[in-house]
This record gives sequence, C-alpha cells and structure tokens, in this order.
Amino acid sequence: MTQTANDAETDSGAEPEVLLDVRGLKVHFPIKSGIIFGRVTGYVYAVDGIDLKIRRGETYGLVGESGCGKSTFGRAVLQLEEPTAGEVHFAGKDLASMKGEELRKQRQHMQMVFQDPLGSLDPRQTVEQLLLEGMRAHGLTKNRDSRQRLIDLLEAVGLPRNALSKYPHEFSGGQRQRIGIARALAVDPELIVADEPVSALDVSVQAQVVNLMQDLQKEFGLTYLVIAHDLAVVRHMSDRIGVMYLGALVEESDADDLYGHPLHPYTRALMSAVPVPDPLVEDTREQILLQGDLPSPANPPTGCRFHTRCPWAQATLCDTERPELRELETVETSKGHRVACHYAEQILSGEIQRRT
Ligand SMILES: Nc1ncnc2c1ncn2[C@@H]1O[C@H](COP(=O)(O)OP(=O)(O)OP(=O)(O)O)[C@@H](O)[C@H]1O
Ligand code: SF4
Ligand SMILES: [Mg+2]
Repeated sequence: MTQTANDAETDSGAEPEVLLDVRGLKVHFPIKSGIIFGRVTGYVYAVDGIDLKIRRGETYGLVGESGCGKSTFGRAVLQLEEPTAGEVHFAGKDLASMKGEELRKQRQHMQMVFQDPLGSLDPRQTVEQLLLEGMRAHGLTKNRDSRQRLIDLLEAVGLPRNALSKYPHEFSGGQRQRIGIARALAVDPELIVADEPVSALDVSVQAQVVNLMQDLQKEFGLTYLVIAHDLAVVRHMSDRIGVMYLGALVEESDADDLYGHPLHPYTRALMSAVPVPDPLVEDTREQILLQGDLPSPANPPTGCRFHTRCPWAQATLCDTERPELRELETVETSKGHRVACHYAEQILSGEIQRRT
C-alpha cells in the first residue's frame, strides 16, 4: 500500500497540527460623529489584514507598540470582538461563521487571561464562585467532584486551599494573576490567549508567573497566544514571534531567528530599544531611534505603514505600495521567516543604507 500525505503527517517527527488558523482578519471600529444620530465619519483600522497560524502546543508571541491592535486581535480570535472581515479556524472549524450555542460551546476550548487581574475578576465573588462560574456555564460541574476539581486547580497554580473562600482584593498582584489563570484553566481549554499577562506585575513576580504558565503548558498540553509590548517577556516564552505595527504583521519567525536576524526595520528598532545586560554587546549593538510618534490607526500612512518612520524608506515604492508579508530565503534566516518590506534583501546586504 502506498503512503498518503495524510499518513505521512501522522508519523512521529511530523509537524504538529495547526490549532489556530487566522486568515485575512480585520477589525475596523466605526468613528461616529454627533451624539444621537451618529454618522460614521471614518474607521479605526485596529486590525487590518492578519494571517497567522499557531500549532498545537506552541507558544506564539505577539508584540508591538501600544495601540497597534494586539488586544483587538486577541479578542477577535476568541470572537469577543466581531471581525469586520476574515476567518478564524479553530481545530479546523470556522468560528467567524458560528453563532449562539455553537459558538458558546467552542468558547470552552479558548480562554483569555488578562493584564489586570483585579479589573477582570468580579470583586464581589469569592475565588470559589469565580472558578465555578465558567465550569457551570459549560456544564462541567455535573459529573465530577467539583470540590476536588477546585482544589486541584488551586494546587496547579500554586495557591493554598483556603484561597477558595477569599475575595480577589485579599491577594497580591501575582496571586490574583494565578487566580485569573486558574479561572481560565477551570474549563479545560486548549488555547489560552494571554493579553499582557505579566505587564502589571512587579519585575520580581513576573518570572514566577511566566514559569508557572510554562509548567502548566507542559502539564496540560496548552497552546498559547501571548500578547506583550515587552520583547523580553515574549522572547523568554515563545517558540515563534509575530511583530505588529498599525494593525498588521510586519515580521514573523522562530523566536531565536527573530532575535538573531531581525529583518524588518521596525523589528530592528524595537530590538535596539531593549537593554542588553552585557556591556560589550551594549556598546556595539545597533541604535535606531524612531522618528515621530505612532501614526493614528484612524488615518494610517499609505503604502508601507512604517514609511513615515523608517530610516531605510525609498521613494516612491515605500509610500505607494503596501508590502506583502513574504518568506525571505536567505542563508542566514531559517524557514518560515516572513517579512513585510519591499527592500528586506537590500537592507540585509547593506546595499541600501540607513539615513539616520
Ligand atoms: N471598542 C473600540 N472602539 C473604538 N476604537 C477602539 C476600540 N478598541 C480599541 N480601539 C482602538 O483600536 C486601536 C488598537 O487598540 P488595541 O487595544 O487593540 O491596541 P493594543 O496594541 O492592545 O494596545 P496596548 O498595548 O495599549 O494594550 C487603538 O487605536 C484603540 O484606541
Ligand atoms: S517597505 Fe520601505 S518603508 Fe517599509 S519597512 Fe521596508 S524600507 Fe521601510
Ligand atoms: Mg492591549
């Protein structure tokens, strides 16, 4: 019997299954003028055409400046924000076409962990009530010992049993984030979208929560989409990283390759802003200071959205044509390294020099 492509994929060593497949996702928020009869006068192009795939068991880090659309993207993946266009396939099913009960059932498999645990946990509910809420909504309290389940959850996230009868304000920031993670875990999800999970925590506590998330990933076979503006956090956690600028991905690759060979001028600028502990490296590393502020997503620049701040921008292609995210095949970079820049090859070879 001849082996089919499908058979080959199930062999050991084959690529793991794609769990999340996002195609052409857009979220445009209407801008209305007038208080009562709001006329739509424009749109905020918060997410403006994102394609990405996350494999089962992988951690995908999404980084970019404040306001570039990271949270909106995360919410749209979970259908908490209605996409203006595009598809979100989860385990092979298109979520964007689902409604009501069908979508509600899928939600069990996808959970969100938020930046601000205090803001996202109802202050009037005890930890027990908070954890049971999601389990009840998905009928998970019927056929199992809920009490034992709650104790197991607390143990998994490193909180004592007596936490169950307490309220969110009785905990420290790090402990509250542990509660947020336990609440997400309570419904046995496959994918967790963690939106800035450690940004609000003290630096000393950040590493503990990151380590906890990594342990839980191994224990429960979780897949993560981790959103952060801080490259250091994402580097530590991610297998692959996507860099976002004004609603779109400008670069995507293996974490090591992104740090070893950043290709997009914006990624290089972000990297140059991360302090390096080694003073020798610190002295020789590239310094790129970006000109100007992030343009408004309600009025994004034409062509390459980065052209107003790019030290390598060339007339007139950069300000007229939007570059596609394309795989760059170079000796240095690894397979799957994608970049959205017309001149990535010439910048890499030094054929085009930086102006500033
Ligand atoms: N519900 C909404 N209505 C209108 N505009 C919105 C809405 N939510 C977000 N925006 C706008 O969309 C853009 C992207 O916002 P988003 O919160 O997704 O960015 P972000 O990358 O998560 O930023 P941060 O790092 O500050 O969390 C911003 O300009 C924001 O003001
Ligand atoms: S396409 Fe042009 S403006 Fe955009 S990043 Fe590349 S060189 Fe810079
Ligand atoms: Mg955000």
